[in-house]
Amino acid sequence: METTLIILKPDAVQRGLMGRIISRFEEKGLQIVGCKLMQITQELAAQHYKDHVNKPFYAGLVRFMTSSPVLVMAIRGNGAIAICRGMMGATFGSKAAAGTIRGDFGVSNSFNLIHGSDGPDAATRELGLFFKSGEVLDFQRASEAWIYDMSGGKAE
Ligand code: RTP
Ligand code: MG
Repeated sequence: METTLIILKPDAVQRGLMGRIISRFEEKGLQIVGCKLMQITQELAAQHYKDHVNKPFYAGLVRFMTSSPVLVMAIRGNGAIAICRGMMGATFGSKAAAGTIRGDFGVSNSFNLIHGSDGPDAATRELGLFFKSGEVLDFQRASEAWIYDMSGGKAE
């Protein structure tokens, strides 16, 4: 099972879209194993977006991400990283396909509602930035047996 970091960005929180976006992940069958509302500091934004530091959009991105609270989640499932990226849609709201979160809830390129880790190394690094030890939980869902086919000994 993979665990990925999802951030509902300030625009998602301010526009009252948290519940609808969380519902999509729950309905998909992914498990939310960590969740908190928080204000991102300049330092945390800089660490999180360190790979973008030399990009022209970096200053605006950090300003946006620190402008108002965000909801951070740790989301778990088989192939959760790629599944979440697919559910998010293309980076820019104007380009994201209908049926995706960015495609359905936004038109802006900068205010694009959601972040998701883009690979296993990023997920490990980002979960460590946003969650302290003990804040990401291991627990069995009652519905698990109907979400994955376990008849072959592993989740299918
Ligand atoms: P994210 O990291 O937020 O999940 O988004 P992403 O992988 O789809 O996009 P990425 O290339 O990592 O860019 C990070 C965030 O920077 C903003 N951005 N602005 N104006 C621009 O050309 C531009 N390009 C990227 C977006 O907020 C994007 O989510
Ligand atoms: Mg990215």
